[in-house]
Amino acid sequence: MDEQFQLQTNSEEVQMSRRRFIRWLLGFSVVSTLGGVLTPIIGYLWPPARASGSGAGGRTLVGTVDDFPLNSGKVVAVNNEPVIVVNTEAGGLKAFSAICTHLACIVYWHEQRQVIQSPCHDGRFNPLNGSVIFGPPPRPIPPYEMEIVDGEVYIGEAKGAIGPI
Ligand code: FES
Repeated sequence: MDEQFQLQTNSEEVQMSRRRFIRWLLGFSVVSTLGGVLTPIIGYLWPPARASGSGAGGRTLVGTVDDFPLNSGKVVAVNNEPVIVVNTEAGGLKAFSAICTHLACIVYWHEQRQVIQSPCHDGRFNPLNGSVIFGPPPRPIPPYEMEIVDGEVYIGEAKGAIGPI
């Protein structure tokens, strides 16, 4: 009788332990599922701050003046936006949005024509002021604030709407 009682008690303990384990597993599954569902919702509602790469005063260091030789142009990243820095005899160093105002292709420096060129529909921009000189772009590419300190080139904010509107 004593032995039977002992076996019954052990069996109940094993059942209790199994029930506890199943409850724990169920709880863990619910928490994991909720975490998986809620994390992207929270990320959507409160996106992380945009990385800025900016230096002091909201400016971005894009290189030294030697990185932009005369009669050349180079696309650099400023706050995750493409900016073209051109250096011409008539205008010196200038920066413009590199997003074409027609259909947002990224412009480049056309060495032979000495213009800022869109690769998509032959749009061309004046490297002195960003105005449209040829093709379908409806608006100029806006200039960016630029400052040169001790030979280092810093770019600030765009002075107009970027890309197609
Ligand atoms: S996207 Fe530049 S001309 Fe069309």
